[in-house]
Amino acid sequence: MAPLRSLPGRPAHPFFESHYEHQLEMVRPSTARVAVPPLPPGYVLRQFRTGDEQPYDELFRLAFEDEGRFPETLARTLEGGFFVVEYLASGQLVASCLASHGSSSPRHPAAGQMGWLVTDPSHARKGLGTIVAACATNRLSEQGYARPYLGTEDFRIAAISIYLKLGWKPYLYHDDMEARWRCIVAQLGREFDPTAICWE
Ligand SMILES: CC(C)(COP(=O)(O)OP(=O)(O)OC[C@H]1O[C@@H](n2cnc3c(N)ncnc32)[C@H](O)[C@@H]1OP(=O)(O)O)[C@@H](O)C(=O)NCCC(=O)NCCS
Repeated sequence: MAPLRSLPGRPAHPFFESHYEHQLEMVRPSTARVAVPPLPPGYVLRQFRTGDEQPYDELFRLAFEDEGRFPETLARTLEGGFFVVEYLASGQLVASCLASHGSSSPRHPAAGQMGWLVTDPSHARKGLGTIVAACATNRLSEQGYARPYLGTEDFRIAAISIYLKLGWKPYLYHDDMEARWRCIVAQLGREFDPTAICWE
């Protein structure tokens, strides 16, 4: 486990270096909209705006170690596709998810991509991650992407739980992936369903 750059008073998520060569992928073969749960009191859901750069970086670093990706990320984000949740008591950004043009995977060219789902661990299990991921999913549907894509890792169990509930499906493109997905769904207390898988 590699430590992320947590901030004083703002613990980070655990981060595990993946020992797999191929990143897990999911697709959503549908443009059906999903329900967005209500926001708990004390939070506001809005779009990223000028001035959010520093608060967003502080949130991002609680979950990801990717440095220097922000300009490329911003350039690909759909208009109205950069969802953030602000905690009104502190003004901090505490959750976010993006809907983007194109894709970072050669297997899904121009597919549309959901990415960078994060909730500040101090605000976890309040539904914020589901809310921003549902909004980004709907934004991709609204844009007409018939089978958007996302990339994830085996240890991101909470995120995968959200994706599955929102209709995203495992996309298997390498021999090792069925066993990896079987392990993930077992951790989530689910049955592995071969009919709910998309194969390359
Ligand atoms: C994934 C993440 C955004 C979830 O944030 P959150 O705001 O706590 O999520 P929610 O409150 O909407 O939780 C929704 C569901 O996710 C699942 N979940 C959340 N935390 C979980 C955990 N620690 N273990 C297993 N399932 C979990 C549960 O099914 C939960 O529903 P429930 O509370 O009704 O049981 C957050 O854990 C996070 O930022 N993780 C690190 C970043 C990351 O992995 N991003 C994905 C990149 S691909």
